[in-house]
Parts: sequence; structure tokens; C-alpha cells
Amino acid sequence: MSEPAIEVNNLTKTFGDFTAVDQLNFTVNRGEIMGYLGPNGSGKTTTIRMLLGLLRPSGGQGKVLGLDIDTEAEAIRPRVGYMSQKFALYDDLTVRENLAFYAGVYGLRRPNERLDEVLSLIGLADIQQERVKGLSTGWRQRLALGAALTHQPTLIFLDEPTSGVDPKARRTFWDLIYDLAAQGTTIFVTTHYMDEAEYCHRLGIMYRGELLALGTPDALKAETVQGNLWDITVAPLMPALSALDDLAGVTRVNLAGDHLRVETAAGQLTAVQIQSHLLQKGFGVETAVAPTDPTLEDVFITLAGHDRR
Ligand SMILES: Nc1ncnc2c1ncn2[C@@H]1O[C@H](COP(=O)(O)OP(=O)(O)OP(=O)(O)O)[C@@H](O)[C@H]1O
Ligand SMILES: [Mg+2]
Repeated sequence: MSEPAIEVNNLTKTFGDFTAVDQLNFTVNRGEIMGYLGPNGSGKTTTIRMLLGLLRPSGGQGKVLGLDIDTEAEAIRPRVGYMSQKFALYDDLTVRENLAFYAGVYGLRRPNERLDEVLSLIGLADIQQERVKGLSTGWRQRLALGAALTHQPTLIFLDEPTSGVDPKARRTFWDLIYDLAAQGTTIFVTTHYMDEAEYCHRLGIMYRGELLALGTPDALKAETVQGNLWDITVAPLMPALSALDDLAGVTRVNLAGDHLRVETAAGQLTAVQIQSHLLQKGFGVETAVAPTDPTLEDVFITLAGHDRR
């Protein structure tokens, strides 16, 4: 059982002359929460569909739970759970009936005990007799997760499981993911939320079909962003952005809500130097320059920027 949950070598998928997934190499260990972060169209779902044996690779190899994704796909599916990005629930059935349906699909013989377990795990036991029609998106997502768990898979794939719900519902969902991981389930989860990506043990960053980096969130921040970062409070923002672009040593300026986020070449500029540059350009004395640590957003911007060059 010590072999990895997932292992891929140069895994590639092309559609005509378009490369959707380009030579992926990674391993996911048993019990790990592996995050897969990337913008729309970066190849996240295509990767999952190949790992599930739903889509044949155009090149490379992959193993899931020790089984070859190309030649042993039929054996993979009953062993893993999959919550797809467009999961299907039956609106006219109750919460419990939906789970019972999926238990049937997976061929569970006497599912009642397992259904009770899953309902309590996903926190929907109290509303198990309600029709799905009226449920909030957050509850529907928990139910869809439950459906992917009825057959007790040791590995589950969650494709943007929390998209479109509020931060509180996302937090609840992530508590569930941690519970599952604590029980030894391996989790492969895609997201495009940076805050959520922080919760993963390790994180792969996808961009235009390529895995640009892979590591713990802390390691990615420490290793990717080489320069110094600053949060700059200044008004008006857009003219300040251009003024900073002109300052030698500044490598990047972004709008970040009500302030600017600036990266400077390592050790090149101090807060005082940046501030006096802005004062000289006529910005007010209320201008504030604060050093700050890299976030995953900085990691992503840095990596995607390198890719373009
Ligand atoms: N069957 C297909 N035929 C042609 N192109 C496809 C097919 N499936 C996916 N693609 C293309 O491959 C790229 C990757 O798609 P994919 O669905 O894997 O991205 P994603 O990262 O899951 O995006 P999203 O965040 O929007 O779900 C996209 O440009 C998409 O249009
Ligand atoms: Mg997708």
C-alpha cells in the first residue's frame, strides 16, 4: 500500500492541434490533499478525466491506485470517488434517496448503514427527507460530495467543488475535506480560489495546460517570489501605478482592491525610497508603504509572467 495514490509521467492530452494538458509529471501520496490551482481552461478537468479513465491520454502514462489509466480504467472507477464540476442531483428525490441512487450505481448491497454514516459525515442527516429541489448551493455541494463517497473510495477527485458558494459554506466544505483526509482518504481537488489553495497539503499550479510548479503552499511562496513585496496605500491609484512603473527596481505593480501591490528586485529599494519617489511625484503625505509577505496570488502571477516571456 506504500505506492502512490496517483503517479503520472509526461501525461498529455491534445484535441486536434491544441494541447490541453502538456507533459504532466507528478505524484500524489496516500492520505494527501493535493490541490490543483489554475484559471479557466488551464486543463484541470481534462487531467481528472484522464486519471479516471474517461478520456484517453494522447501521450505519457498514469497510474491511479496502482492501476494503469489507459489499460485498467474499468478497474479504477469503482475504487475512486468523483464529484464532477457539473454534478447531477435529482431535484425531485430527497437527500437520502439521492445517496441511495448513487449507492445503487456503485452496487452497494445493503446501503442503509453506509447512508447513515455518509449523511452524518456531510452534516445533512437532519434534512435527509427533504427534496433536493429547495436546497441551497452549499448543501447541494455537500450532498454531491456524499454521493461520491457512498462506496467508501480511498481516493476522491473533487472538481471545483465549492465554486459559486459563499466563504462560510466553503469553509464548512473544507472542514469535511479535512475530516476525510484524517480518515486516510486521498483527495485531489481543483480550485481557482487562492484562499482555498492554502488549505492543501501540496499544490500544483496549472497554466495553459502546463504544471508550472508543485509544492507546499509555503514552499511555493518561499521559492517562487524572489523579490520584495509591498502594499502601498496611495491616492489616486492609477497615476500612482504609472509613477511606480517608472521607478528603477520595481518589477511589478498591480491593483489590489483599494491599494497597490508592488514587487521590487530583491534588496533594491527600501520603504522610504519608494515613499519619497511617490512624494516627489506629487502624491500626498498620507501615502504609506508597508513590506508584506508573498501570497499564492503573487506566486501565480510570478509563474504565469515567466511563462509569457
Ligand atoms: N473535448 C474537447 N475538445 C476540444 N477541446 C477541449 C475538449 N475538452 C477540453 N477542451 C479544451 O481544453 C482546455 C482545457 O479544458 P479544461 O476543461 O480541462 O480546463 P479547466 O482547467 O478544467 O477549466 P475550468 O476552470 O473552466 O473548468 C480548454 O481550452 C478547453 O476548451
Ligand atoms: Mg474544469
